[in-house]
Amino acid sequence: MKWIFKTLLVCALVFAHGCATTEHSGVAVTQLRCEYRHNPLGIDVLKPRLSWILESQRRGQKQTAYRLIVAGSPASLKNNKGDLLDTGRVESDRSVNVVYAGAPLKSRMRCFWKVKVWDKDGKGSAWSKPAMWSMGLLDQSDWQARWIGPAADPEKANLADEAFLAGTAPQLPAPFLRKTFKVEGGVRRATISVTGLGLYELHLNGSRVGNHVLAPEITAYDKRIQYQVYDVTDMTAPGENAIGVILGRGWHAGRFWQTAPPSQRSFGGRLGLILQLEIELTDGRTQTIATDPSWRIMTDGPIRSDCLYDGETYDARRAMPGWDTATFDDIAWQPASLVDMTGAKLVWQRNEPIRIVRELVPVALTEPENDVYVFDMGQNMVGWCRITVKGSKGDAVKMRHAEILNDDGTIYTANLRRAKQTDTFILQGGGRETFEPHFTYHGFRYVEVTGLSAKPRPEDLAGLVFHSTSPPAGRFECSNDLVNRLMNNIVWTQRGNMHGLPTDCPQRDERCGWMGDIQAFSQTALFNMDMAAFFTKWLADVRDSQAADGRYPSYAPHPTRSQSGSRHFNVPAWADAGTIVPWRAYVNYADQRLLAEHFESARRWVEFILLNNRGLVWENQRGADYNDWLNADRIRLDGWPREGGEVPKPVFATAFFAHSAGLVAKMAAALGRKEQAEHYTDLFEQIKAVFNKAFVKPDGRIEGDTQAGYALALRFNLLPDELRAKAVQHLLEGIDRYNGHLSTGIQTSHRLMLELSRNGLHDLACRIINQRTVPSWGYMIDMGATTMWERWDGFVQGRGTGPEDQFQKAGMNSFNHYVLGSIGEWVWRNIAGINPDERHPGYQHFIIRPRPGPGFTWARGEYDSIHGNISVYWQLDDVFKLNAAIPANTTATIYVPAKSPYDVTEAGRPATEAAGLRLLKTAEGAAVFTAESGSYRFESQYPSKFHRTN
Ligand code: BGC
Repeated sequence: MKWIFKTLLVCALVFAHGCATTEHSGVAVTQLRCEYRHNPLGIDVLKPRLSWILESQRRGQKQTAYRLIVAGSPASLKNNKGDLLDTGRVESDRSVNVVYAGAPLKSRMRCFWKVKVWDKDGKGSAWSKPAMWSMGLLDQSDWQARWIGPAADPEKANLADEAFLAGTAPQLPAPFLRKTFKVEGGVRRATISVTGLGLYELHLNGSRVGNHVLAPEITAYDKRIQYQVYDVTDMTAPGENAIGVILGRGWHAGRFWQTAPPSQRSFGGRLGLILQLEIELTDGRTQTIATDPSWRIMTDGPIRSDCLYDGETYDARRAMPGWDTATFDDIAWQPASLVDMTGAKLVWQRNEPIRIVRELVPVALTEPENDVYVFDMGQNMVGWCRITVKGSKGDAVKMRHAEILNDDGTIYTANLRRAKQTDTFILQGGGRETFEPHFTYHGFRYVEVTGLSAKPRPEDLAGLVFHSTSPPAGRFECSNDLVNRLMNNIVWTQRGNMHGLPTDCPQRDERCGWMGDIQAFSQTALFNMDMAAFFTKWLADVRDSQAADGRYPSYAPHPTRSQSGSRHFNVPAWADAGTIVPWRAYVNYADQRLLAEHFESARRWVEFILLNNRGLVWENQRGADYNDWLNADRIRLDGWPREGGEVPKPVFATAFFAHSAGLVAKMAAALGRKEQAEHYTDLFEQIKAVFNKAFVKPDGRIEGDTQAGYALALRFNLLPDELRAKAVQHLLEGIDRYNGHLSTGIQTSHRLMLELSRNGLHDLACRIINQRTVPSWGYMIDMGATTMWERWDGFVQGRGTGPEDQFQKAGMNSFNHYVLGSIGEWVWRNIAGINPDERHPGYQHFIIRPRPGPGFTWARGEYDSIHGNISVYWQLDDVFKLNAAIPANTTATIYVPAKSPYDVTEAGRPATEAAGLRLLKTAEGAAVFTAESGSYRFESQYPSKFHRTN
């Protein structure tokens, strides 16, 4: 009830606000985005796409026309002078991804824009607030700057293969670079375009520029390197100025890519910097400061070593106060060397940068051994720590990061494998000193601190959480505390695994963009955050990493791409992220351009499988063949069946082959490529027929008789209609054989749950989500998990004879792995009841279908779709109540659980008569309406007896 009042209050406020900012219609135009970003700087898209949101509480409100003005200056925009574009009134309901079709855009241009719309009654809105974007350096020839860095030789020491894999290579300090220059007049505008390899930290006149962490983030470096653009007008002044840059090793030049050590990489792995500062003076002149050999470099500074896996060592005795100011004496520094970085294209940073987004304070501080202190951050988090200490000159304070504790309260680090996750701070002495690393990141809940001269206080340490700042999009809450904690853990796991790429884990010596993991997790990720820009960036990495013959790798970006026969390519379900993720991005954001850019790549992948498997069973060329990884056969538990869970590999692979072919067909159809759509639909049908012939018996039994096999066949629509029910029956028997538990792994657990709910077994799915015994989502939570575990049995209390036995094998036992969190999709679709409709991508039309079930009496889901905020709340008492808010300019199909539509009211009146609603049908225990935009309050006579038998 409280929630309803809150909603009404918010509605009232929004409405009042809408009235205040609009002229005639009640519509406000908000959230202006260019290429999915708010006011992006330095884009290189020649025809950027613009999106906005309509806000209105009125039922059936929609856009019938828009006018878009783009101007070269704020003043022109204010005067409604669209010198770059004035579309005039365009009759169209399109409000997302509207392609800019104005004057040609050139390097460095700044574009200011606003929109107004006309509503369903033809009434105009007020103009939106202005927004802007700027163009980057579009031609490589715009770059006067040259790549510079340290001289080549000492680098090699760090990159020998064996030492690299073992993490024993000699460490080299991070180079510092600087350049002083004189600004010859007043500054109208100053802009820096910069990137580094591996990472850079940029300073200007004694201050840090921007707030990016680990820039420029990972890409397939031999193809594309992202650069960043910063407006530094306020940091630049007439007279002497100084730029300072520190280079870190990061992904490009450091210990990373365990599966491809340096000798196998297709890029060099050297350190480098390219930077161009362009200053427009108030008198109209311009000045350009660019990297070249006149820059000075120092390679023996305070950052003694830096590594994403191992951490950082900082020696404060070597600090160089003022190194980034004009007055610093750099006489001892050397001229920088030119670095050969040819080949890669410099492109804009199209995804939201990694930034520090929150700070955690320790919830406990213990001393499990003398002078060994363990801070508990209360949350498995990803980022690094800031620590303040006091000690003597030369004292080394060491911080080791771990996810979990041993029974004796010391940190457990075996599962980090060869990642040291250790930061060391060598004190200058003489007062309180604060330290924060620059070029590393750790996955941890616990921080062990040693080397202190006195007992620390909890407030001496803070955990700084950082990740790619894709905007949060979904908020979920329900009556079931276990599921609330599960959903919270899933979001934390997502935060911990988005650092420019979607990673498997953030702690051990891995952290790669494993494609099978994000393939399974993608729809959950899309519910939790606005992934549009992130996936656009990462899918370019995927294309860049594709082999010439069409094979996708199993993780991307991938440092090699042409090794035929590499087991890290063409892996069923992993490589198929190349078809599945772009399709999901399209369904959620109506991104036609992304599909068009990706289509050939996806098609070539399907053709590769086909070429090698003419019989249409995917038998050949299956790469590492991970199959339904970490299924129940891998669980170590007394009395637990150790076989029978794993789906036969050809069944698994062929299901994904069919699915990918089907998605290529859908992509072709969405792009209007009729012939190709027919061709690949045909291929899908043929693979389906072969799947049935090869693997499905007339009684619906699928080879292997595994839960996973049924889940895949049902989810990918591979069975003839008459066998579906039979397959569901076999699936049910399979679940019974495991005493009501899942025997599935990372690829099929969420798919199985989705199919239970879709096939009349939602109550069973609810019972499974509420389980607390291994394997279950509940067990992890009962064991205190604050993020998703990699394995169902990552830690089993009391297992085996020694404390170590409680942990699964240390070689593969992450406690921050999102893939089993793919279950979030089931919760969003079935408990919150929010579903995109792929026939109307971008939530232009969507489906609200909450399914009450055992263990749930109410749920609330809010999702910021690209068209605006969708909200659903339901509650089951004597009656079933459902509140739904549908954004302006969209429509929805709403399933209200009921025996008859005449049992349903909306705002107290028969729903069949309510404005904005149209009864479509009664199906599967629900009255189904189509709804225009606006807020609805349904009540349905929905006896709980009916609910129990559903
Ligand atoms: C990762 C997985 C990944 C896999 C391939 C692992 O080390 O952590 O999540 O998909 O390798 O099997």
